[in-house]
Amino acid sequence: MEKSSSAERKPPATVHPLVGAVYQWVDDRLGISDVVKLATKKRVPEHGQSFWYYWGGITLFFFIVMCLSGVLLLLYYRPGDSAYESVRQITYEIKFGWLVRSIHSWAANLMILSAFIHMFSAFFMRAYRMPREFTWWSGIGLLLLAMTFGFSGYLLPMDDLAYFATKVGLSIPAVVPVVGPWVSDLIRGGPEITSYTVSRFFALHVVVMPALFIPLLMFHLGLVQKNGMSMPESELEKPEAARKSIPFFPNFAMKDLGVWLVALNVLALLAAVFPWALGPAADPLMPAPMDIHPEWYFMSSFQVLKIFGQIFPGVTGEFVALGVFKLGLLLWFLVPFFDPTTKGGLRAKLTTYFGILTIVILLVTTIWGYWVLPAVH
Ligand code: HEM
Repeated sequence: MEKSSSAERKPPATVHPLVGAVYQWVDDRLGISDVVKLATKKRVPEHGQSFWYYWGGITLFFFIVMCLSGVLLLLYYRPGDSAYESVRQITYEIKFGWLVRSIHSWAANLMILSAFIHMFSAFFMRAYRMPREFTWWSGIGLLLLAMTFGFSGYLLPMDDLAYFATKVGLSIPAVVPVVGPWVSDLIRGGPEITSYTVSRFFALHVVVMPALFIPLLMFHLGLVQKNGMSMPESELEKPEAARKSIPFFPNFAMKDLGVWLVALNVLALLAAVFPWALGPAADPLMPAPMDIHPEWYFMSSFQVLKIFGQIFPGVTGEFVALGVFKLGLLLWFLVPFFDPTTKGGLRAKLTTYFGILTIVILLVTTIWGYWVLPAVH
């Protein structure tokens, strides 16, 4: 990092001398002005599509809220045999417990939604192209981890919906020959979902997932800092002098804060008006509830599994569907190699069609999963 000169390190003359002296003392030790200098040097392009630059920040905001509300939930949540009872206490007995739980669950869902929007906006801005390939790949990793975060959190209340949805979810890896049943048993801690499964999911949710997600996020954000923001092709075609940009700090950071405030309002409204429900305690001897379904972000894959299950008999359908998922993910991963430069031509066009097709498939299968096919029992 470039060091600031002694003039740059001085606090502004308008600041109270005492505050200035404290700032100077801290700055001499931590080099804050070097970071401020770096942030003011960084510029964010301004054009008709700048709106999409906010979505990575919005995703980050929901992740921060998720961490803070998760720590509050940890004060009362007890994994294992008392899992349901502790969530019942949080929801009905502990002051504002219902609100913290609702905020946590809504923030998790909004984070995944905004990560999808962010991913597709990066895709259509072609932000996966050189030199941002690793930003793209680390982003895919973050989204997959975020979805695993969600899956591991879904079981923790141990109500009937969580129990049966997880049961269906864990039957999917079991169809993989040889290792599948072993992997499912390993995740469950046995052939059935029990309090051992809750303890395993708890460890995954609060230790393993954060330990993987946070360093990957740092890598992702570090790359954004290193490479700066990408520009859409319409901007790149303009001569450099005709392109507009603003400093990241304070101009873009202030706009980002404004957007975070809007996100906070949306979250607070949803959490207060639609509090997160808690169903009856899971009872393995009872029949599965009628509306058993995975979280919305797994609905598309769930529906594709059902479709293939109807085309091919037995586990073959599920096996073929797993192959299709892997192929789709691989293609998504390889996009930076297929459309590497601004002179993309036909390749760029095909990539755009691929992106549109992916969105259409995700939307259609999700809606289909919710409304058209009968529920699975
Ligand atoms: C899940 C958590 C994620 C967080 C918290 C996150 C955060 C961010 C932030 C704050 C930025 C800078 C501002 C912006 O461009 O919006 C960014 C940029 C970027 N992200 Fe993410 N991101 C996440 C997931 C993803 C995913 C799923 C992808 C795509 C697969 C992705 C790909 C990118 C790319 C390519 C950029 C550079 C954009 C540019 O230069 O225009 N990110 N991310």
